[in-house]
Amino acid sequence: MKSFYITTAIDYVNGAPHLGHAYEKVLTDVIARFRRQMGDRVHFLTGADEHGQKVQASARQRGIPAQRYVDETSAEFRALYDRLNVSYDDFIRTTEPRHKQVVQVLLQQLFDAGEIYQAEYRGFYSTRQEQFLQEKDRLPDGAWPELFGEVTEIVETNYFFRLKKHQAWLVDFLTQNEDFIFPRFRQKQVLEFLKDPLNDLCISRPRERLEWGIELPFDKNYVTYVWFDALLNYYSAVVDKGLWPADYNLIGKDILVPPHAVYWPIMLKACGLPPPKHLLVHGWWLQSGAKMSKSTGGAVNPLDLVTEFGVDAFRYFVMREMNVGQDSEFTREQFLVRYNSELANNLGNLVNRTLNMTTRFAAGVLPAAEVIEDAEREVQALWTRTRDEVIPLCEGFQFHTALERTMAFVNATNAYIEKRAPWKLGKSVDPKDAALLRTSLATMAEALRLAVALMQHVVPATTAKINSVLGYTPGADWRAELEWGSKLTGAKVDEALVLFPRPAPPPKTPAKA
Ligand code: MSP
Repeated sequence: MKSFYITTAIDYVNGAPHLGHAYEKVLTDVIARFRRQMGDRVHFLTGADEHGQKVQASARQRGIPAQRYVDETSAEFRALYDRLNVSYDDFIRTTEPRHKQVVQVLLQQLFDAGEIYQAEYRGFYSTRQEQFLQEKDRLPDGAWPELFGEVTEIVETNYFFRLKKHQAWLVDFLTQNEDFIFPRFRQKQVLEFLKDPLNDLCISRPRERLEWGIELPFDKNYVTYVWFDALLNYYSAVVDKGLWPADYNLIGKDILVPPHAVYWPIMLKACGLPPPKHLLVHGWWLQSGAKMSKSTGGAVNPLDLVTEFGVDAFRYFVMREMNVGQDSEFTREQFLVRYNSELANNLGNLVNRTLNMTTRFAAGVLPAAEVIEDAEREVQALWTRTRDEVIPLCEGFQFHTALERTMAFVNATNAYIEKRAPWKLGKSVDPKDAALLRTSLATMAEALRLAVALMQHVVPATTAKINSVLGYTPGADWRAELEWGSKLTGAKVDEALVLFPRPAPPPKTPAKA
């Protein structure tokens, strides 16, 4: 069994989770579930980034200790991911002893090896991004980009990690490993960034400025600066499992350069550890063209959508709408379009018709197919093409296209039903029509079973429900489940299942008095 270790970014837990955080965890979950179906032994890590100035400030604002604050907010993120059916194997919190210990051991190791030194830091700091800024980060007019929020100048003696020394190695590594970052165009951006000389990385904050962090093992007056602490979670969580390096570190594009593409591989290299095999970089959910974020207000709360439309409608929408790597605008209108046309109408109709007609015309027991004509052969041939196209699309993270193709197959099955018109065949006394009726019931049910098997990693609860109303228990080998056959013959189906109820129409504006 091939092992597959995948991680998400760990969220700053200083506010409520929004659509962007939820998207990333669902995307990682879809990949993890897909790899499990393909037979890999998957380890899926997610977690919370609990140190830093932002958390300290938010806790102070609420007048509670930082630890209590992160206990509460972390639990909120985790509860959301549980609700979203995110099948993580481990949830790491950077305030846990298992993490702090590893960070301290590695810091000491780097200090002893001369990779860390003390010097005066004079420069600018963005609390929102928890990032030390450089002159080149300024806009042409001298202002700091909006992304950084409030920027403050600081002068402090601090500890520095020798980044510059490893720059040539990193360029070499990226040049030789062209597929290190997905999508590939991002790797070119990193190489572009590396054309300028790197500054060494400031990795500490004096305790009097920032209390809420991991103490430097060689100087108790300092704590580590957030990124040095946070990045190591991917390693600390599996140090005793022997799973490093990760197959994929999944992140959003805002934290690629420099944290994940520059600091992270160099930190690992200096520690004598291999880099992750790949970084997978997704884009942003936008609102009116700008990155959705808690600081800009009005961010979409995923729980509201889940409460209104269900977990799988949410998972389906984000995977269907977003082309992994690119940005996507979120609008409720677009959510409703996909929900209504693809889930309620297309898939919902196939489910309703299959259950309803099997109940009406076959006493609820799925018959065997008897007469295979062109209409049936077309559906089966389209199935084979769809499956053979969708699996490689999922392997390449093209879930939006994979879902589009799968839904096209569902649509073709609905068209097949229109063509066969079982409601007419049911009225005929001709035995040939009776055989065709049984064939059409068997064909629609088998097509439905296969279509939802192919979407199982995206909508696992829906797949399970549909299998259940079809009276079917799938086998353990997912690939074997994807063969057209007669697995459903003789199964007793339920009469009805309301999967995706139509949302209530918007309230009418009250008539003026
Ligand atoms: N704590 C750091 C990550 C440390 S990883 C060692 C952080 N946290 S975050 O809460 O700001 O972001 C967590 C993840 O959510 C990041 O990968 C980020 O890109 C993603 N998203 C935050 N807003 C987003 C959107 N609007 N759209 C999509 N994902 C975005 O950065």
